[in-house]
Amino acid sequence: MKGIILAGGTGSRLYPLTKITNKHLLPIFDKPMIYYPLQTLVEAGIKDILLVTGGRNSGDFLRLLANGKEFGLAHLNYTYQEGEGGIADALALAEHFADGEKICVILGDNILEGSIREAVDAFERQARGARILLKEVPDAERFGVAEIKGDRIVGIEEKPARPKSHSAVIGVYMYDGTVFDKVRTLVPSGRGELEITDVNNAYIREGTMTFSHLDGWWTDAGTFESLLRATNLVAQSRGAKA
Ligand code: DAU
Repeated sequence: MKGIILAGGTGSRLYPLTKITNKHLLPIFDKPMIYYPLQTLVEAGIKDILLVTGGRNSGDFLRLLANGKEFGLAHLNYTYQEGEGGIADALALAEHFADGEKICVILGDNILEGSIREAVDAFERQARGARILLKEVPDAERFGVAEIKGDRIVGIEEKPARPKSHSAVIGVYMYDGTVFDKVRTLVPSGRGELEITDVNNAYIREGTMTFSHLDGWWTDAGTFESLLRATNLVAQSRGAKA
């Protein structure tokens, strides 16, 4: 399976931290943010990886990561998103790289304690469709929220004012080769973006979406509060003293 890391956007919620650098290069404890999603993919056995970047500091990713030797990679692929048209807009840039194969997409600001290997292996065995990972959270209104009936996921709402569950859809998505056709049908949401939730709902309507529950802690890092939480969680897991 090929891997895609989405690290475009302008990180406006972290201004002025993001005035002179890219959000994904900010530190989470002792490493730049981008190291964590990259490590998550590599740990799951995914070695053919495309990084989608953007903004004014995209060259810094190349200086920092080069060909990913530090992560045991032979080479790393890069592409550039103009503007910030949304997560699905960034994903659209990966069509040529994916070349019809299954892909595992991870958001550049998602930090996971545990492994996604089991879910990746399960998706390898899945004939077609998509697979997402869910995590119970107290503040579901900040995320895509899954509605589950029995053992089926019946819909996802993006940042609902009144969430139907506590199951957040984390920023790790596995798709078959039809994902790019689905992206082409999208129209911009109220916030002017092509939403990954709309892609996921297209798979749900098709009846080919499966899901796993994520073990271990998970956080995004795109706001001041979550950036701090990410640093604290990583520091604690390394046994650092405050
Ligand atoms: O963290 C998980 C959540 O991520 C999901 O639960 C939501 O369903 C999903 O929409 C997303 O929510 P956010 O609104 O928090 O995403 P954000 O705009 O912060 O973007 C997350 C990452 O996606 C960002 O670090 C880089 C990438 N991205 C985002 C945009 C808007 C791009 O590569 N290009 C973009 O244009």
